[in-house]
Amino acid sequence: MQGKFDFIDEEMDRRRQCHQVRELQAVENAEGSWVRVGGRAMVNFCSNDYLGLAGHPALKQRAADYIKRYGAGSGASRLVCGNHVFFAPVEERLAALKGAEAAMVFNSGFQANVSILAALADRESLILSDRLNHNSLIQGARLARCRIEIFDHNDLDHLQALLEKSSGRGFSRIFIVTESIFSMDGDQCPIDDMVSLARRFGAILVVDEAHATGVIGLRGMGLTCGKGVDVVIGTFSKGCGAFGAYVACSRKVRDYLINCCAGIIYSTALPPAVLGAISGALALIPEMDAERHRLHGQADFLRNSLHRLGWDCGRSTTQIVPVIVGKESDTLALSEWLKKNDIFASAIRPPTVEENKSRIRLTVTLLHCEADMQRVVDAFEQWKGYSA
Ligand SMILES: Cc1ncc(COP(=O)(O)O)c(C=O)c1O
Repeated sequence: MQGKFDFIDEEMDRRRQCHQVRELQAVENAEGSWVRVGGRAMVNFCSNDYLGLAGHPALKQRAADYIKRYGAGSGASRLVCGNHVFFAPVEERLAALKGAEAAMVFNSGFQANVSILAALADRESLILSDRLNHNSLIQGARLARCRIEIFDHNDLDHLQALLEKSSGRGFSRIFIVTESIFSMDGDQCPIDDMVSLARRFGAILVVDEAHATGVIGLRGMGLTCGKGVDVVIGTFSKGCGAFGAYVACSRKVRDYLINCCAGIIYSTALPPAVLGAISGALALIPEMDAERHRLHGQADFLRNSLHRLGWDCGRSTTQIVPVIVGKESDTLALSEWLKKNDIFASAIRPPTVEENKSRIRLTVTLLHCEADMQRVVDAFEQWKGYSA
């Protein structure tokens, strides 16, 4: 008789054969941009802590103050008794910074994406989703159990053709779903054109600013600020150096989500320390234009240097710099080489990215110094090929 868990052996064997097995690695922060991975010190080129705020004294202090004042846990979901006094100031500040009528904190970006789309769409809706959208947006669209159509990445002509084809076909509502900075490619969506298309066709535009929040746009608040995007989602877990997520939207949408969004209703509210760290981040980020300028300068340096060496960085224009290699095995070999050179950079493989688009995803942060940047450029220059 077959064992109950034979399916696991089969799947793991399949993954081993195509170099797609994933493993957890213990990481310990060292100094600045350095981390210890399995006891070995390496410069970290895969963190999303773009502004280096995760270790910032102001965030740590406020998180500690909130724990002292309010305790370690929040006690219940926000609809029960978890809506503590520290939520409203963060949400009001965020709404003002995003130029939105209202904002609401979610427990994570994954949870927000999974539950917001499912709450807004019904079975008769249509979701038009960018081909490169993050898995959490894909899961949210699937949970909505409505028709989903994929438009080619950032391709407005394709999106418009789908909108034209869909108008008058009886959908209850049509959603356009995209990211503002794409997580695995580091390119940006053409936000103004997206807004115009959504308006023209009466579609609801949903934009995920996970990798843009803190990093780009007016006061660092993302690409959607003041653009009239219907529903903006973002995280505090990356550029903000904390944890948790948000939606910025109209009051009407916020009230609806409080009533109909499972992610808000059925999950314990974030703990005080996290809200302390978020509030610390929101105090610092608007004033960090000079730092953002430096961050983008560093990313330009990295991209230009790698281009000169003949590497393919795709369409990246931001702090996320992919080096597209192609085959999984080649990408893993390159990642090992980088480790030998004390560089921690993850190999991103299918299903996270498309087949034959495996890559090393480098992320630049304010913690990197010039020597770190040069180290990574030198390592790519000295790479002798995948069989070396
Ligand atoms: C585009 C995008 N959206 C959402 C998420 C999920 O955010 P979080 O890590 O806060 O759950 C991520 C992070 O991995 C992401 O890259």
